[in-house]
Amino acid sequence: MKRIGILTSGGDCQALNATMRGVAKTLYASDKDVEIIGFIDGYKGLIYGDYREMKPSDFEPILSLGGTILGTSRQPFKLMRKPDENGLDKVEAMKDNYKKLKLDALVVLGGNGSMKTANLLSEEGLNVIGLPKTIDNDIWGTEETFGFQSAVEIATDSLDRIKTTASSHSRVFVVEIMGHKVGWVTLYAGIAAGVSAILLPEIPYDIEKLARLVKKRAQKGEKYTIIAAAEGAVTKEDADLSKKDLKAKREGAEVVPVCEVIGKQLADLTGLEVRTTNPGHIQRGGAPNAYDRVLSSRLGAEGGCMVLDKAYGCTAAVKGTEIIRVPLKDIAGKLKYVDPEGSVVRAARAMGISFGD
Ligand code: F6P
Repeated sequence: MKRIGILTSGGDCQALNATMRGVAKTLYASDKDVEIIGFIDGYKGLIYGDYREMKPSDFEPILSLGGTILGTSRQPFKLMRKPDENGLDKVEAMKDNYKKLKLDALVVLGGNGSMKTANLLSEEGLNVIGLPKTIDNDIWGTEETFGFQSAVEIATDSLDRIKTTASSHSRVFVVEIMGHKVGWVTLYAGIAAGVSAILLPEIPYDIEKLARLVKKRAQKGEKYTIIAAAEGAVTKEDADLSKKDLKAKREGAEVVPVCEVIGKQLADLTGLEVRTTNPGHIQRGGAPNAYDRVLSSRLGAEGGCMVLDKAYGCTAAVKGTEIIRVPLKDIAGKLKYVDPEGSVVRAARAMGISFGD
């Protein structure tokens, strides 16, 4: 008999259920007797002993279902070592519940922060396996995460739709794309939608240059300009500041979405009609696309095989056309940024897409 715990942690994405299904189907199809315990709302369920005994029928119909049937929550890694409001030691509580439930392994579907906690639990002696989730595609050690391609598709659709209304009204549009500290979704969706400019955290922009591009397009008779701006896009000026100085500059200042900041400046500098749009969490919603369903099934199946092989302390990852296993300790705490000199950025530049730099 194998008893496996599973949880989904951090921001949701489209293919969490599809990935859990891949794990579960692989385990149930093995010659072992398997029981799966699903923790409710991520690490919170493991900390407070909130769980469900799962059945094969729970997993079968969820391949195309967005969100997560287990629920999720954000449990910041930096607070894991801090007792909760009742003085509970969260790490000890997780270890106790793992032991009480007689688990053989814990499968964690999560992003960067969740992988740090997975690594911590692994170092504390639990048998942990990670599966790389996030629309942001920023997990170190894997070329792709599940959720990324579905989000790119929604962001692309948003940009396409904006293009039609921008063209009707001869307007400039700044569309803000999710991605936290990295620009993967913006870069891919920007290329897929054929925008004029892509602004990424990895390539700081100059607002004067961006304004010149917008004006030049208008002078050339181009009816509209679409700018895809990552939520973490940063000016050259801010990028030159030290972390401490940037923090001081932002402290106390009203938090304004990046599309609003850029939109206002562009309107002032160009005198053109500028609008902003922020598709926000829509980018994480709905069904996973076909690509993500396949990727999740592959990563989930690998997660199941890792349990059977006792390949603990590792995460499944994408490398080229293969799914590989990478030690959690090698990826925990590292971010995978867009390479400003990489082939995707080079291709975009070659086609005349501006990065505002
Ligand atoms: O990590 C996924 C993500 O959607 C980021 O792109 C974004 O910065 C963040 O989560 C938003 O978090 P929340 O859902 O807590 O508002």
